[in-house]
Amino acid sequence: MKVLFLLGFLFFPMTVHGVRMSRCAFARRIRDLGLNGYRRISLANWVCLARWESNFNTTATNYNAWDRSTDYGIFQINSRYWCDDDKTPHATNGCGVRCSQLLEDNLVKAVECAKQIVRQQGIRAWVGWKNHCDGHRLSRYLHGCRL
Ligand SMILES: *[C@@H]1O[C@H](CO)[C@@H](O)[C@H](O)[C@H]1NC(C)=O
Repeated sequence: MKVLFLLGFLFFPMTVHGVRMSRCAFARRIRDLGLNGYRRISLANWVCLARWESNFNTTATNYNAWDRSTDYGIFQINSRYWCDDDKTPHATNGCGVRCSQLLEDNLVKAVECAKQIVRQQGIRAWVGWKNHCDGHRLSRYLHGCRL
């Protein structure tokens, strides 16, 4: 147990203690999971998107009263279209996952699902990206990161 904890601490220093990842740790992790350049969308776009959607909180959840759906995780993926939480009316589960899997620290399912979303709808699916990232200079989102 102690050994596992120490290993976790070495490899995931940002996620063991809490749910908010550092900006640069997030950038490295999603790059390693193949998001940099995926569908020609640069890493900085994803970092900007996650900054404004969840502020890098892997367990962020936000309920949308108007359609009784919930947005899950670091990319705030919506349960009406993309994941199953057993409580959203007319849900379609486009990513074939439990919504809770989109909250996992390793980001594997969240990134897989984000790829599915951009394949179907493009990055414009995210309001946070449209409002804060589209047409903006994004280099500051990777500033100081050793990638
Ligand atoms: C992350 O989101 C969860 C669920 O919305 C919240 O309880 C928690 O306080 C947030 N953590 C941070 C560091 O903002």
